[in-house]
Amino acid sequence: MSESPQFRVVELFAGVGGFRLGLEKSGWNVVWSNQWEPSTREQHASKCYVSHFGQQGHVCDDIAKIVARPGECIVPDHELLVGGFPCQDYSVAKPLAQAAGIQGKKGVLWWSIYEMLDLKRPPFVLLENVDRLLKSPASQRGRDFAIILSCLAQLGYAAEWRVVNAAEYGFPQRRRRVFLYAHRLDWRGYAWKPLRRIYADGVMARALPVSQAGMRGLFEAEEERIPEPDLPPLDPNPYVVSETFGRGLARSQFENAGVMIEGRVWTRTVTPAYRGKTRSLGDVVAKTESVPERFFVSDDRVGQWEYLKGPKAEPRVDKKTGHEYRYSEGGMAFPDPLDRAARTILTGEGGTAASRFKHVIRDPESGRLRRLVPEELEELNGFPRGWTDTGMSDGKRAFMMGNALVVGIVQRIGKAIKAEADACQNERAARDDGTVGTDT
Ligand SMILES: C[S@@+](CC[C@H](N)C(=O)[O-])C[C@H]1O[C@@H](n2cnc3c(N)ncnc32)[C@H](O)[C@@H]1O
Repeated sequence: MSESPQFRVVELFAGVGGFRLGLEKSGWNVVWSNQWEPSTREQHASKCYVSHFGQQGHVCDDIAKIVARPGECIVPDHELLVGGFPCQDYSVAKPLAQAAGIQGKKGVLWWSIYEMLDLKRPPFVLLENVDRLLKSPASQRGRDFAIILSCLAQLGYAAEWRVVNAAEYGFPQRRRRVFLYAHRLDWRGYAWKPLRRIYADGVMARALPVSQAGMRGLFEAEEERIPEPDLPPLDPNPYVVSETFGRGLARSQFENAGVMIEGRVWTRTVTPAYRGKTRSLGDVVAKTESVPERFFVSDDRVGQWEYLKGPKAEPRVDKKTGHEYRYSEGGMAFPDPLDRAARTILTGEGGTAASRFKHVIRDPESGRLRRLVPEELEELNGFPRGWTDTGMSDGKRAFMMGNALVVGIVQRIGKAIKAEADACQNERAARDDGTVGTDT
């Protein structure tokens, strides 16, 4: 089969559609999406999503409710499930003696993804989260990520992950996120060699190349014998993982890249290898005439911003306990330099109040200090300028970009998954024709 089949995607936690923008540019077809903001009447993200992609196949409702009714499931079959979900506490409650399956904490969105995977079993999965996921919680370093890997193993998936700083691949924002790709083992056309997968031919390595210095000998050895995993095997029962993983560890065992196959984990620290074009904050700066006055910092407020951004070492008193302590933090560049990539956009980026974490630039034309306008934030994430101009305030538009992701990173990963999906599909077709034997 030579033509490229149109693979179907389901997008969870869709926000304003960052995954969809990236995936449609890499040949995928999003057939169903879900976005619902808890405890708000106005569903701005869903409205923005629908204004660009249409209402068909979009549902604005709590995903937990949707997966709770498996008998009347409204989610169509699909080949790729994607979603950027919040980093929460994924611990597993003690299973009741009679209860089948595992019982995750209520309201925790990983368990909705888990239930969806259990129900639909798509061959490919791509998830995104903050990189803290690899380390949390502080009392049991890496436990939450280990629970996710153990659940994926239990559902019959192999997985790869990578922490990606978008600026290290030329994008104008230093946004650091972990991407987790899972691949149903029965769709795997060929055996995964873990080190090759991490450094050379995995989805992440193809999409976002890393240095392979010193690896050649290890790749050759791996052809003969798969190296020992770097971690003890994950228990197949996520409840046991929840109880035991990472106890007493000061540091997470998960490095910035890794592979999990049948509960065995190989994990390495990799270094990006990118020699392409790079963009900086200065490349997205709007013309001064298009910037409303409310984005400029008035002279009488500059001191406040300088204080918040500056270094501190001062005595403070805990308001609740009355406990006195010394508070210290380093200084931040103020204003933000235009010749390097922006810092990470956070959800609190909007609004006029001074803050340590909002960006402030010196407007190149007027020389005045100002915050970033929504169009600049959109471009820092690779969305078309004006994408969120769908009836929400500037503050909400900034919030949406704080929640969103770098579209170009998804596009690169989407392209690599597509190539893998095409290859697997061809392999399966050939196997069905009887022209190749099976490979384990
Ligand atoms: C990290 S954001 C994902 C943003 C998205 N990737 C984008 O490009 O805009 C997570 C999204 O999940 C949504 N969400 C939170 N709880 C939800 C629930 N119970 N059901 C459905 N969506 C939910 C939030 O409103 C938010 O838009």
